[in-house]
Amino acid sequence: MPLSPGPLDPRFVVVMVGLPARGKTFTAHKLAQYLRWRGHRTEVFNVGNYRRQAFGAQVPHRFFDPGNPEGLAARRLAAVCALDDLLAWLSDGGIAIYDATNTTRERRAWVRSRCTDAGADVLFVETVCDDPAVIAANVRATKLTSPDYVGMDPDRAVADFKARITHYENAYEPLDDDSVAFLRLDGMGQRVVANRIDGYLPTRLTTFLMNLHAVPRPLWFTRHGESRANVRGTLGGDEPLSERGREYAQRLGAWTEANLSPEVTVWTSTLRRTVQTGAALGRAVTEIKMLDEIDAGVFEGWTYEQIAQQRPAEFERRKADKLRYRYPQGESYEDVISRVEPVIMELERRRDPVLVIAHQAVLRALMGYFMGEDRTRVPHLEVPLHTVFKLTPLAYGCDRHPVTLGPER
Ligand code: SIN
Repeated sequence: MPLSPGPLDPRFVVVMVGLPARGKTFTAHKLAQYLRWRGHRTEVFNVGNYRRQAFGAQVPHRFFDPGNPEGLAARRLAAVCALDDLLAWLSDGGIAIYDATNTTRERRAWVRSRCTDAGADVLFVETVCDDPAVIAANVRATKLTSPDYVGMDPDRAVADFKARITHYENAYEPLDDDSVAFLRLDGMGQRVVANRIDGYLPTRLTTFLMNLHAVPRPLWFTRHGESRANVRGTLGGDEPLSERGREYAQRLGAWTEANLSPEVTVWTSTLRRTVQTGAALGRAVTEIKMLDEIDAGVFEGWTYEQIAQQRPAEFERRKADKLRYRYPQGESYEDVISRVEPVIMELERRRDPVLVIAHQAVLRALMGYFMGEDRTRVPHLEVPLHTVFKLTPLAYGCDRHPVTLGPER
């Protein structure tokens, strides 16, 4: 049967497949980050964590030898415990990611039948990589800091992990069952094979994964300089920069000149306050409508105090649920999150650094995604004026570093 989960209340399992150090856990984490940001209840179940809990972290590579019956039984137990927990968690609905090697046909058939028996649809996602340099870089970037090797001499750890990979290679059977839904990502998306992908959710996951790569590069985000509307404390509009805002634009230009290479791409919204801020950089700038500020609808030009006094019910509704509250004839944060999704895809796809000059609500949505924030936190993230945020990807997350340029407000 082709894959076709209900789009509104899916019970869905993504089953990772692949040899060690092929980016499975990275992919699983990015997928979870994306799905949570999209508002899906999502959890990752990593079999390695269950193995570490049950049998300790520092097991030698022989533990992973398919000819070692004790190791085999122990690893099977870890796989069973993780899948039991996954299916218990999934009984409330959501998207579960089963992060394990799942390199044999027998293991995949077992996982699939347990998931389908529980009423879940299954998508296998295999990460394939044959480039020894990429594999070696993956091992050094992610395995040396893993609890499996903490405190061990790095060269011994690498040698042990390579021996572990060889054990898995000896037992590996390619994902070639045309009757199941699968995505094979070869060379981190350079070549993608999509089999039996059908329905809203699998299609979205496919698009996301096709844009994903693991080339680490920083991103910078900043709001425009202070605008005249900021001085008055009014919402929305298309006001130019204030004097302090122009000063920030100059400081940002000097900072950019000193800190960002000329290759850094610069994006602004189409509103005057970001365009004027970007113009002070003296570089090519692309204006993107999707980066425009949240539309405050009938309250454009109002202050929050005015809303509180003249429309107290609206004010309270917004206070009670800032994520879902939609300004009359305007947008909610949820709307903004949906609107900027193509920007996220583009930022994921590009391999060059980008500086985004935009607005508070839009930057909350964008940075919320990269920081892996639960979407309910998105409307509350701190994004002050006159500050540049540098986001640096880590192995399974992201570091956010603010640089305050002033002038103070
Ligand atoms: C592990 O124990 O680290 C991984 C288990 C597996 O998925 O093979």
